[in-house]
Amino acid sequence: MGRVREGYRGAGPGAFTPDGCAVELYARLPVRDEPEVIAAGAREGARTLLELGCGVGRVTHALVEREWVVTAVDESVEMLARVRGATTVASTIEELRLGERFDVVVLGSYLVHAPDPEVCRALLDTCRAHVADGGVVLIQREGAGWYDELPPAREHAGGVLRFLSSESVAEDVHAVRIAYEFPDARWVHEFRSRQLSEARFEAILAESGLAVDAYLDDARTWVRALPVG
Ligand SMILES: C[S@@+](CC[C@H](N)C(=O)[O-])C[C@H]1O[C@@H](n2cnc3c(N)ncnc32)[C@H](O)[C@@H]1O
Repeated sequence: MGRVREGYRGAGPGAFTPDGCAVELYARLPVRDEPEVIAAGAREGARTLLELGCGVGRVTHALVEREWVVTAVDESVEMLARVRGATTVASTIEELRLGERFDVVVLGSYLVHAPDPEVCRALLDTCRAHVADGGVVLIQREGAGWYDELPPAREHAGGVLRFLSSESVAEDVHAVRIAYEFPDARWVHEFRSRQLSEARFEAILAESGLAVDAYLDDARTWVRALPVG
């Protein structure tokens, strides 16, 4: 495991990633609609997929079942040890250079909201460096209003997900605390998130040679970007 990231912390049973994610928690969470969103965002005939920040393979495994040829990347070897059916690579996303290009590159889990603009830029540069000509980059971002009002608690995977607090700690950066509560375990995750308006988001993508092609869902949280230049 790499160095714990400043402003990130996890509490609860088991191992944690440098960004405060609990390995045992992610092993409990089921896949949601991500495979359908990815299939809808990909081009006809796409087969190879690079998943950045794959965790324990919550989404990876569903993609492998759907016959995607997946390369799954995470900086946490504890997370990667749970991944099956994909080529796994232990690396930070920022430093990744595989010398290979993919039909689809996925940067999910709101990682694009990294609080440090240089880290954000490096994440997007990695996406650009690994997308094939004619390929797509699929990015998951926070929708409008997320920073203004905390979402209400909701049932999640047999437990309850509570948004505990969100405080502004720097210009456009919030420190967020969420709790996952189950009958037998409770995890708290603290992380930092940089607010990105659509205009700002599109501008930073452009700096990395990516152009927004479409917002794939009504909430405009999944984005398809194309390589340019
Ligand atoms: C919130 S978890 C989500 C995991 C998976 N995408 C999912 O939806 O189940 C974020 C994962 O991304 C990894 N991660 C976060 N920042 C990273 C970085 N800069 N480089 C590599 N891995 C990173 C963490 O180790 C963690 O496994």
